[in-house]
Amino acid sequence: MNDPVRVWRQLFDDSVLLDGFHALKHAVRFGARVPVAVTTDRRAVLELADELAPDVRAALDELLTEIPETAFTALVPRPHPTSVAALAVRPSRAANLETLARVPRTAPVVVLDNPRNLGNAGAVIRLAAGFGATGVVTTGTLDPWHPTVVRGGAGLHFATAVERLTVDELPAGPVFALDPEGEDIRGTKLPDDALLAFGSERSGLSAELRSRADRLVSLPMRPQVSSYNLATSVAMTLFHWSAAGDAPA
Ligand SMILES: C[S@@+](CC[C@H](N)C(=O)[O-])C[C@H]1O[C@@H](n2cnc3c(N)ncnc32)[C@H](O)[C@@H]1O
Repeated sequence: MNDPVRVWRQLFDDSVLLDGFHALKHAVRFGARVPVAVTTDRRAVLELADELAPDVRAALDELLTEIPETAFTALVPRPHPTSVAALAVRPSRAANLETLARVPRTAPVVVLDNPRNLGNAGAVIRLAAGFGATGVVTTGTLDPWHPTVVRGGAGLHFATAVERLTVDELPAGPVFALDPEGEDIRGTKLPDDALLAFGSERSGLSAELRSRADRLVSLPMRPQVSSYNLATSVAMTLFHWSAAGDAPA
């Protein structure tokens, strides 16, 4: 059998780090290819699988190799409390672009215009996965596959299409951009093929994104409150889309 530590070191630079039980569970459940998974306590992880995720127990049993704690912390300097970590193959950009461009689109694409906060990006990917959105596209410099984003997204990057694009490269579809100055979302039906665009935590929607927007829509908010958090805004908007009855069960 291949030495998992050696395999880890060989693959690390080009792989997605799955840090902790939930990230690994979701990645396996949504079809990620996981060439190496290590833990300091194989029995404890399999017991967790029995309790929380029996559907992936057999897969984890096959994947997991137990290694000493010193070797584990050398691979993962700040380990998750569940003491399990794995490397997954990142889905190809070509496959994600194909998913994002596929028509007819049956669920919106979420666009984060130059997001700054890795935790927000992870929370949004988790929301998009939960609501069955087609994908999450980010513009700007933040890497949506950064390990902190993957950790925040609980490994659910594998349940939706996650890519970084420029505004010019956004897939086709009507752009509904969320902005406190827009028309009230409660009077708006968000179509399944919509691109739902959200501005940066610091400066809101960029001029470029605004010029691509077909509609500006706002979330109800009492006067004197300036704005909602980015991820909460995405949550309300996806809920509004789903409440119209078109979201997949
Ligand atoms: C934290 S806010 C941005 C605040 C920023 N300082 C600004 O000037 O707009 C991040 C994004 O969440 C969305 N958002 C927040 N509150 C909203 C509201 N009441 N209506 C619509 N969108 C909202 C917008 O897309 C906004 O660009």
